[in-house]
Amino acid sequence: METMTKIASYDRVSELKGFDETKTGVKGLVDAGVSQIPRFFHHSSDKLANHKPLSSDLLHLTTIPTIDIGGRIFKDTIMRKNAIKGIKEASEKWGFFQVINHGVSVDLLEKMKDGVRGFHEQSPEVRKQYYGRDFSKEFVYTSNFDLYTSPAACWGDSFTCYMAPNPPKAHDLPAICRDVMIEYSKQAMNLGEFLFELLSEALGLNSNHLNDIDCSMGLRMLCHYYPPCPEPDLTIGAGKHSDSSFLTVLLLDLIEGLQVLRDGYWFDVPPVPGALIINVGDLLQLITNNKFISSEHRVLANRATRARVSVACFFTTGLRHNPRMYGPMRELVSEDNPPKYREITIKEFTTHRNAKGL
Ligand code: OGA
Ligand code: NI
Repeated sequence: METMTKIASYDRVSELKGFDETKTGVKGLVDAGVSQIPRFFHHSSDKLANHKPLSSDLLHLTTIPTIDIGGRIFKDTIMRKNAIKGIKEASEKWGFFQVINHGVSVDLLEKMKDGVRGFHEQSPEVRKQYYGRDFSKEFVYTSNFDLYTSPAACWGDSFTCYMAPNPPKAHDLPAICRDVMIEYSKQAMNLGEFLFELLSEALGLNSNHLNDIDCSMGLRMLCHYYPPCPEPDLTIGAGKHSDSSFLTVLLLDLIEGLQVLRDGYWFDVPPVPGALIINVGDLLQLITNNKFISSEHRVLANRATRARVSVACFFTTGLRHNPRMYGPMRELVSEDNPPKYREITIKEFTTHRNAKGL
């Protein structure tokens, strides 16, 4: 029996290596015309199911709230107050909301998605040069960052880069998407700083509070490419996880797939043209002592005939050097609400989270 397990797991590891060594990701498999997905992508079906029926008190809900942030210049104080109230409720109950009138132009959103599509669809020879698993590099293209540690792989590829506080040199970025990555990350930073002001007020703090403690200092961009999947019931695009950031700004395209877990039920997030998804990450949950929640979410395997792309901008310094310690904010804890977490650096926190995989 033991020998059997050894042979089976040996096969699995060599299959993973074979896939990794192609350096062209899931997109490479699709280009090769696979009609059945390799075994290592199979997820157990009970994990994929929407196991729990929707509880009666949530039956009236269909998806995450939408908040109009007035182009970032509210016409009157009532509109501003309403937006802050909406953000507060959404951050407490869902950990997710969608913003409209966010001030980032639709043209730039489209160009950003075209850039991601362009990178993943350019010739394999160019893509391969960026492929790897050394995450200390400026720009890394890979498939399944936890390929060798997770129980099953996901049907998607991605590339990642830290864009702030020390932006990469233009020549460290692929020519096909460098300009748009630089422009979009600047716009995402501006939007993030504005959202941290509203979030500070939603917590009853001075509007500069979260920016002053550097929540908006670091930005890591993660650009996903989910090719069409020939057997979408057997796998997933991105497994269940929460984000380890303070906050995430997520740009989606019009192919569905994102789901958010609330009270054991998977809610679909239907794509809305021009909108951006905002979600609370683990670090914001930590510093708010669980007032705001970092919800688990996932992406179903792509059933469409074209690839789905998305761009996640994580506000965090991640694995980069940052000596600041974060713990529950003094202003939010009391004798009745003692700190639920100890103080920790972002690097220590992220290292622990990454080791766990998705
Ligand atoms: C993420 C994420 C969702 C998506 O990158 O953390 O949840 O739709 N992405 O790609
Ligand atoms: Ni996520």
